[in-house]
Amino acid sequence: DERAAFIAGLPKAELHLHIEGSLEPELMFALAQRNAVAIPFASVEDVRAAYAFSNLQDFLDIYYQGMGVLIAEQDFYDLTAAYLARARADNVRHVEIFFDPQGHTARGVAFDTVIAGIARALDEARDRHGLTSRLILCFLRHLSEAEAEATLDAALPWLGRIAGVGLDSSEVGHPPSKFERVFARARDLGLKCVAHAGEEGPPAYVREALDLLRVDRIDHGNRSLEDAALVRRLTDAAMCLTVCPLSNVRLCVVDDIAAHPLRTMLDAGLCATVNSDDPAYFGGYVNANYQAVADALDLSRAELVALARNSFTGSFLDADGQARHL
Ligand code: ADE
Ligand code: ZN
Repeated sequence: DERAAFIAGLPKAELHLHIEGSLEPELMFALAQRNAVAIPFASVEDVRAAYAFSNLQDFLDIYYQGMGVLIAEQDFYDLTAAYLARARADNVRHVEIFFDPQGHTARGVAFDTVIAGIARALDEARDRHGLTSRLILCFLRHLSEAEAEATLDAALPWLGRIAGVGLDSSEVGHPPSKFERVFARARDLGLKCVAHAGEEGPPAYVREALDLLRVDRIDHGNRSLEDAALVRRLTDAAMCLTVCPLSNVRLCVVDDIAAHPLRTMLDAGLCATVNSDDPAYFGGYVNANYQAVADALDLSRAELVALARNSFTGSFLDADGQARHL
């Protein structure tokens, strides 16, 4: 329809995308076979049927299991190339990609193998299609800060390829304060800082991300809306929120898409963006996220343009880089 065509035509940036969450069941099966890794599914349909989550942890259990088929540099290249093809098809011009090295190093896959494969696909997309990108290394917050420090050590030879660090995995019980020192070191190394906060966790976790981790963006941030003073602080700072509508539905962060707080965020003056999070698990890439939330909330063209514009202004592109896309 008309709205779909309008969304498809908008140049967009995607700022919240876990590359391991773009592993489609078809590729999971192909890699399981190529690497002789056993997976507990009989078919692609079987896999999709397992994607019924009642909270974040339900999803994470299956997400960490799924990434077990990724072994060789070529696997990380294939995964990233497949995502970038989807992004391009959605008229995404710039991507800031999360990766979870600890989900791989824990299985004996070297940090260098992971990042080399991802980076090769990113370079190719830039050279062939002008698609720009940044990489964000995420620490798994259910693990210790010492393990995050060791991961940052492994990243040191790759600092030229890494724009920032993030914080993901099980939120409740693992507040940002647990990672204050490793984020301080990352910032001293010149890295940007982001953190998942206020997805399932309380507004206090968003405050900790701002005060203790000194983040440049908040990933999700939904529960900030429970705290009016925090909303004011986020708007005053023009802090970007990377919102993920279909993820929020699938992980039961919202009751249904019609109850999504995206318009409330925009009306409050928050710099909200629309992103896919883990598109292979949550039922859609970036345009599907725009479409679902625009249909449910009857977003106007002006609101859709504002969201797309926010995706560039909230990105880690410099002013010239943003201007090239806007
Ligand atoms: N890892 C992958 N997707 C995530 C999400 N939405 N929240 C926390 N950790 C994640
Ligand atoms: Zn996420």
